[in-house]
Amino acid sequence: MTDAETMLDRIAAAASLGDLDALRVEALGKSGSITALLKSLGGMDAETRTREAPKIHALREQVTGAIADRKTALETAELERKLATERLDLSLPAPEAPLGTVHPVSQVMDELAEIFADLGFAVAEGPEIETQWYNFTALNMPENHPARAMQDTFYLEPRDGETEPRVLRTHTSPVQIRAGEALGAPLYVIAPGRVYRSDSDATHTPMFHQVEGLVIDKGITLGHLKWTLETFVKAFFERDDIAMRFRPSYFPFTEPSAELDVGYRHEKGRRVVGGQDGWMEILGSGMVHPRVIANIGLDPEEWQGFAFGCGIDRLAMLKYGMDDLRAFFDGDIRWLKHYGFRALDVPTLSGGVGA
Ligand code: PHE
Repeated sequence: MTDAETMLDRIAAAASLGDLDALRVEALGKSGSITALLKSLGGMDAETRTREAPKIHALREQVTGAIADRKTALETAELERKLATERLDLSLPAPEAPLGTVHPVSQVMDELAEIFADLGFAVAEGPEIETQWYNFTALNMPENHPARAMQDTFYLEPRDGETEPRVLRTHTSPVQIRAGEALGAPLYVIAPGRVYRSDSDATHTPMFHQVEGLVIDKGITLGHLKWTLETFVKAFFERDDIAMRFRPSYFPFTEPSAELDVGYRHEKGRRVVGGQDGWMEILGSGMVHPRVIANIGLDPEEWQGFAFGCGIDRLAMLKYGMDDLRAFFDGDIRWLKHYGFRALDVPTLSGGVGA
């Protein structure tokens, strides 16, 4: 057996990647046997070199190829060994059922995002500590405008050099301006988040949640607003037979403005959406005031829009039957166990948003 054949046999029999690498060094390394043969070409006369060079190069190719083949074979065998021995049994039950639940406010926010994503709306955000420009002035409520007194505002201590104290935002409407500035038009966004007003009883807490909706595009009419809100209400309450009525209203940042009422019925002493026993207001809305469009930096001759704002906690109470808003924020584990949602149930339109 020649040296070369021995080498090829040893490569084919290499038991591990480590052994194989040792053989590679032995043949092809700096002082390897094939490297030595290649070096010897320099000392040969022309005739011998012409005869020997192709043989030596072919040998090198052969050994390189054999090493590569053995490497693949060893790696495949290793992978197969792992696949055969390392198993994850996914059917094993979790050691304990997950303890936490999703708070109804988070659940409703997820449901809103799901419903409006389906209509082409993105989710926007803004800060809870807001300047008076964004919370009031840009929304067509200049200083001393009586509408500023409509909401009981928390004012912050002015910071050094601040001419106007900042406020805890009293509604999500400032996100209209921020989203408009950041994203331009056309614009389709909802903005869920915390808002603050100095108010506290069974249906009011100093902090609560709203969702803002804003559309800015060309040729937007009241009809688009009406269709969007109807589609939203039916998807959210998961029924088609909801009576709705728009009642003229006033907001400084929309013109005309309307509040949306839905029909309710009494069921076990509770008001339930659907039915005609009476009306209850669920949101404020209107066509974005041209001055607000201009404050965003857009031309109101070119762009129109509609907006709406809605209490999320109130939506949750209506859909899931809680009657005291304060309990939402007590952090009582028994309340969460009762009203919370399984962490693994993600709302989808096909599966039911409130599933
Ligand atoms: N921001 C208003 C409120 O908090 C609701 C609203 C939003 C009304 C957008 C019209 C348009 O009461």
